[in-house]
This record gives sequence, structure tokens and C-alpha cells, in this order.
Amino acid sequence: MREVHAGYGATPILFGVSLEVREGEAVALLGKNGMGKTTLMKTAIGFLKPWRGTIEFEDRDLTRLAPHDIARLGVGLVPENRRIFPGLTVRENLELGLSAAPRRSAALREKRLADVFHHFPRLRERIEQNARVALSVCDRGYIMEKGVIVFEASSRELRDSPVTREKLGV
Ligand SMILES: Nc1ncnc2c1ncn2[C@@H]1O[C@H](COP(=O)(O)OP(=O)(O)OP(=O)(O)O)[C@@H](O)[C@H]1O
Ligand SMILES: [Mg+2]
Repeated sequence: MREVHAGYGATPILFGVSLEVREGEAVALLGKNGMGKTTLMKTAIGFLKPWRGTIEFEDRDLTRLAPHDIARLGVGLVPENRRIFPGLTVRENLELGLSAAPRRSAALREKRLADVFHHFPRLRERIEQNARVALSVCDRGYIMEKGVIVFEASSRELRDSPVTREKLGV
């Protein structure tokens, strides 16, 4: 995304956010409470329309697309906390995440589930917003403060940098 501005009603929350995720990369977006992380995610999946700026995915312009069209292109959001379907099993909840995947097949489903269980062998353990966890699984990351990206680094640098402690208090 480039120079994305967005907000709620007349209240600006994001002030020209630019970031990129390259193919095959895991990237963390970190920041204290209320700094704009969720707002940025909502903008990326089309729930909020950016006031200015552009969002692209695999060379396609997502900026004006509706959320369901963005989902069909393969952009998904895993909701924070435990916003899952409590009446469904863990497996069923995970499979729901594949519902928008193009060309989904039994083989793809098995592979994705295997990946998830590989990364989260103790799935029942609570996986919440946790900068340490995010840093342990990402390749790179950004730190956000008051709607602005204030730091960008590799996960190792983020783990070791005093900036992370200062900005996140971790
Ligand atoms: N629906 C909304 N209407 C108005 N303001 C909102 C709304 N949702 C969030 N905000 C405000 O936008 C700012 C950024 O909130 P956001 O939820 O994006 O932060 P966050 O970085 O995800 O925080 P957290 O770490 O607590 O999840 C905050 O000031 C928040 O009060
Ligand atoms: Mg949030």
C-alpha cells in the first residue's frame, strides 16, 4: 500500500501509510493499543475505504474493490481474539478460512491444515495479539504509531532493537 489515509467518519486515523509484503514473506505490523493496526487491516480488506492512497495485490489495484471481491482474490483476514464460530470444531473453523481460496481442493485443504498444525501444534493455546509471537514467526515487520509507520526492520532487528522496547513497551 502506498500513502494510505483512512479513518472513521471525519476522524483521520491513518496518515499516509506505505508498506509492502513480498511474495512468500511473513510481515508483522506492531504498535501499541489504538495506533491504527486494525484500522489498516480493515482498509486492506476493503471494510474501510481509503480516503487517499492506493492498495495493490499481485499488481491488481484493490483500492476501490468491495470486500468480497478482495477476498476472492485471496486476501484474507484472521480476526483477532477468538472471533471464531464456537459451534464448529477447530478443523471446521480452519477450513472456513479456505472458503475463498481459488482452486481449492482436498489436497490444498490438507496441506493448509498441515501447515497450520506445524506452526501451532498446541492450537488450543490462546494465540492473541502478542508482539513476541508475531516477531517469532515473521520475516520483517513494521511498527506503527498514531497512524504512521515509524520503524521498519527484519524480525531479528526488531527483536533486538531498543526502538521496539521503546515503541511497544515489551
Ligand atoms: N469504529 C471506530 N470508530 C471510530 N474510531 C475508531 C473505530 N475503531 C477504532 N477507532 C479509533 O481508531 C484508532 C486506532 O484504532 P485501531 O483499532 O486501529 O488500533 P490498534 O492498533 O488495532 O489497537 P489494538 O492494539 O488495541 O488492537 C483508535 O484511536 C481508536 O479509538
Ligand atoms: Mg487492533
